[in-house]
Amino acid sequence: MRHEIRVWDLPTRLFHWTLTLCIVLGIIFVKIGGNAMQLHAYCGYFALALVVFRIIWGFAGSWHARFANFVPSPKRLVAYLKGETAGGLGHNPLGALSVIALLLAVLLQASTGLFADDDIFFQGPLTKYVSNATVAFLTSIHRFNQYIIMALVALHIGAILFYQIYKKESLVGPMITGDKKILVTNEVSVSTESIDTGKQRLAALVIFVAVGVGLYYLIN
Ligand code: HEM
Ligand code: HEM
Repeated sequence: MRHEIRVWDLPTRLFHWTLTLCIVLGIIFVKIGGNAMQLHAYCGYFALALVVFRIIWGFAGSWHARFANFVPSPKRLVAYLKGETAGGLGHNPLGALSVIALLLAVLLQASTGLFADDDIFFQGPLTKYVSNATVAFLTSIHRFNQYIIMALVALHIGAILFYQIYKKESLVGPMITGDKKILVTNEVSVSTESIDTGKQRLAALVIFVAVGVGLYYLIN
């Protein structure tokens, strides 16, 4: 018998698609330059708030959003790579590493942006608190890390296409609807269903707003 199971809760899905939007728009605005730099900064602040929220959600969120349930131990990773164990319902052990790398790379990009200076007329809000040498150093990291993000995103989309084309498994559908279809007789237990109730979503909203308020005070 096939059964629909909630894997990605609404906060995780909203996090994902708004983060994607922020990064794409942020890059478009920085290429436009001039007054659009202010919009670049807004996209960056939003991305920073989203990633900080996602890190908290990795401890407080539903089953498949929790780091403890998808970040693999070295033993589990090796067993997965040897084909001895299956991936499971959430991020597979290899995908989990790419998720962590993406989160850290975006965190680095957005936080170095706060100290970046374009040497024309736009400075990140925290540049005034550090020396010119520090600003130059963090700006160079901000410039270089964009390529790391682009490479990770290319790998991310490549892996999703690989699953779609060769394994005939759509990962994008569940990241939109939240659900995956499973056979209830297989090894995946229905008890690993992610809780996605109104109460849980409200908790996520409260966390996100608290992060946003904290960030607002930091940059003002
Ligand atoms: C700037 C672009 C992107 C970034 C930074 C990004 C980042 C991420 C992150 C951090 C996750 C983990 C989600 C979580 O557990 O919170 C994830 C998962 C996922 N992303 Fe993206 N993503 C991007 C673009 C895309 C695009 C364009 C697609 C669709 C083609 C996509 C499809 C997915 C899917 C399907 C998953 C779930 C993978 C799985 O089942 O393990 N992403 N992404
Ligand atoms: C995840 C969020 C962010 C992404 C993906 C991002 C991406 C980029 C990219 C691709 C560039 C162009 C670098 C170059 O080749 O010259 C850039 C430049 C810049 N960004 Fe960001 N950025 C983010 C967040 C921020 C934030 C929060 C701020 C500050 C409020 C900021 C301030 C700047 C400044 C001042 C520059 C110009 C640096 C230069 O002239 O080299 N960025 N950013």
